[in-house]
Amino acid sequence: MSTDGHPLVAQLYDAVMAIPERTMLPEHREALAADLSGRVLEIGAGTGAMFPYYDEAADLHAVEPDPHMREQAVERAERLGRAVDIADAGGESLPYEDDSFDAVVASLVFCTIPDHEAALSEVARVLKPGGEFRFLEHVRGEGRMGQAHDVLAPAWHTVAGGCHLNRETGALFRHDDRFEVLDYEQVSEGVVPMVRGRMRLVDGRGRLRKSLSRVPLL
Ligand SMILES: C[S@@+](CC[C@H](N)C(=O)[O-])C[C@H]1O[C@@H](n2cnc3c(N)ncnc32)[C@H](O)[C@@H]1O
Repeated sequence: MSTDGHPLVAQLYDAVMAIPERTMLPEHREALAADLSGRVLEIGAGTGAMFPYYDEAADLHAVEPDPHMREQAVERAERLGRAVDIADAGGESLPYEDDSFDAVVASLVFCTIPDHEAALSEVARVLKPGGEFRFLEHVRGEGRMGQAHDVLAPAWHTVAGGCHLNRETGALFRHDDRFEVLDYEQVSEGVVPMVRGRMRLVDGRGRLRKSLSRVPLL
């Protein structure tokens, strides 16, 4: 996937995230990576902030389309001495076989993926049946906070590397019947509401079968 990416955002990302990375994010990153084994894929790995949290035994793969972010992710993996196969790809078109991962992880990324519905279909495609999709995402607020997010969203999209401040990502995930929800929690409220969850793939191609079943039989 060839994109120029967002060099300034990539350069500032770790500095801007330094305080949350020390305070509120560790517990969520730990939960995302807890007890993962087998073949694991992280979508939109950014600078590799999740890498220290994965078990050494996991066969870790990641995609990151922004070359500036990806370069930092590669450097972080090297610093950690962690083998991570990092591909230049977006979540909407994962360069992997069907049914090939035990788990897929998304951390603060579905807000930024341009076609997030296509990316969720890709998660369903590459997960093995029974595999887990784990996520931590910020979402549109309720009531007045949601309205404020709607107003700020266009400017935020420009300064924050394409992030959609007011996406209803949690609802998209929860209502997808290819997955069974194992855990779903609103883990923060206020200005940056966030949800964290785990879902098990029940039927990777359920939607396709469903839509085909609506075609009248002649
Ligand atoms: C807010 S950062 C999160 C990075 C990392 N997951 C973390 O937890 O710190 C969002 C990331 O999504 C990446 N991204 C943008 N478009 C994407 C796409 N189509 N597919 C996958 N990742 C994408 C960005 O380049 C960026 O690295």
